[in-house]
Amino acid sequence: MTDWQKSDWRAKPRVQMPDYTDAAALSAVEDRLASYPPLVFAGEARKLKAQLGAVSRGEAFLLQGGDCAESFAEFAANGIRDTFKVMLQMAMVLTYGAKVPVVKVGRMAGQMAKPRSAPTETVNGIELPSYRGDIINGFNFTEAARNPDPERMLQAYLQAAATLNLLRAFSTGGFADVHKVHGWTLGFTGAPEAEKYREMSERISDTLSFMEAIGIRQEAAHALETVDFYTSHEALLLEYEEALCRLDSTSGKWLAGSGHMIWIGDRTRQPDGAHVEFCKGVQNPIGLKCGPTMTSGHLKSLMASLNPDNEAGRLTLIARFGAGSVGEHLPRLIRAVEEEGAKVVWTCDAMHGNTIKSTTGYKTRPFESVLREVREFFAVHNAEGTIPGGVHFEMTGKDVTECTGGVRAVTDEDLSDRYHTACDPRLNASQSLELAFLVSEELSTRRSTMQQAKAV
Ligand code: PEP
Ligand code: CO
Repeated sequence: MTDWQKSDWRAKPRVQMPDYTDAAALSAVEDRLASYPPLVFAGEARKLKAQLGAVSRGEAFLLQGGDCAESFAEFAANGIRDTFKVMLQMAMVLTYGAKVPVVKVGRMAGQMAKPRSAPTETVNGIELPSYRGDIINGFNFTEAARNPDPERMLQAYLQAAATLNLLRAFSTGGFADVHKVHGWTLGFTGAPEAEKYREMSERISDTLSFMEAIGIRQEAAHALETVDFYTSHEALLLEYEEALCRLDSTSGKWLAGSGHMIWIGDRTRQPDGAHVEFCKGVQNPIGLKCGPTMTSGHLKSLMASLNPDNEAGRLTLIARFGAGSVGEHLPRLIRAVEEEGAKVVWTCDAMHGNTIKSTTGYKTRPFESVLREVREFFAVHNAEGTIPGGVHFEMTGKDVTECTGGVRAVTDEDLSDRYHTACDPRLNASQSLELAFLVSEELSTRRSTMQQAKAV
């Protein structure tokens, strides 16, 4: 893609992006960001791509999760630590339970721009622009807050840099050492799945002692004591993405320096639109949300423009249809992929197709629907003979009440207790762990069915 330029998206139709009124202020911010260091490096993005390649062949599993929208107000070390802990716990459940390596990708360090269903919001007869994420405007319902402010991009960059710095420290500085498997639990998870996790940790500790006794620890030290943890976000605010886009001197290819993996939302995936144009030219792994309106024709043309060389690990298709609708939509898209012989990762976003308004007026997601969509995703892949490669979810390590249900049943009435999200409702730590156990069972069942099939 030699003639691609990082500003080419500007000539394409754009949707879901703010209209900045002060052009001079915007370009001053873009210049500053362009002079700052990139947040991630090309070698890391290539390593993630290779690991996603393994996912596309069924040799690993992708776990992608984090906030719907990271906010400036909630930015603190404990929040990052707790989300990271839950991801580690979930990954351990899958690695230990389903015996599969897990590729861990956070919706973190840059997940701050949001597509919205309506451009404005009316409260008590007053109409203001919708909140579009802290990188764009403020959540408060005032004209000043809702006005898009380019300076916010600088704050977002600093927050992303500090978040990534902490994640790197957690990943390699001892916190993620598998010997600490017991310590990743969060104080409030007193539920049955927390007990299940405790039992599993006991068995892991036991295995580790055995390995040490026979002298394996030394050779395996790196694998046991550190993890690879990657960052991702929706590449929605293209001024920010372009400013952080860099030419990688090793490969001579462009890199989105804002995060390891970026994705295209379900509302911005127009084949001739600005977002696809930008993502086309960077070498990072790219995610593509596939909702109910995605046709096989669209998908084929998007695969051709986003992954023309059919590189494994380059493209992750994130299916998000809603419980009860997977059977209606996923098979045609799987067939489109198979017809093209395309190498993709299939993952299941069991959140965005399941948002409803509760009887108490809160936007919520019934946990039962989330689990049901995951089950349907596995069932369709099992029937089609293709690979269910991962799950994508919105969660937090905080003990929130945003999604109803789960073994520590959150009811419609409970939602008001601890409803803290700046955007969509997230799974709490205990619901996330429950989801991981479900996925682990699905993967184990699949494995034994496949082994049986091989044996006959
Ligand atoms: C999201 O992932 O936060 C999101 C907005 O998803 P989608 O584009 O699938 O609606
Ligand atoms: Co969301």
